[in-house]
Amino acid sequence: MAGSNEIHTCHVCINISCAEGGSPALVDALSERLAGSGVQVKTQVCFGACWMGPNIVLYPEGTWYANVQQSDIDDIVAHVHGGPHVERLTHGVDPQLHELVVSLLEAGLD
Ligand code: FES
Repeated sequence: MAGSNEIHTCHVCINISCAEGGSPALVDALSERLAGSGVQVKTQVCFGACWMGPNIVLYPEGTWYANVQQSDIDDIVAHVHGGPHVERLTHGVDPQLHELVVSLLEAGLD
């Protein structure tokens, strides 16, 4: 990925279901690992797919990672830095919801 599609923000849901699944610790781990890289980690309050959390959306590239665990952080950070998609985390997201969430994130950014 390159140019305007390059990932500059990791949006992590920290609403109830995702938080119960450990998303605050994912925020900490990503923030630590991405410090100084120019990629921000931002918290969000629900992407509408609580049953498959913790959920993370990489913006503006648009990848949605579901059921993310601490053990996935290394591979996600590698993807953010231009590595391959973490295919095992990309399943089960409704395409229409995915599109909606990405457009809402877009609308919320200046
Ligand atoms: S609580 Fe995270 S998607 Fe709803």
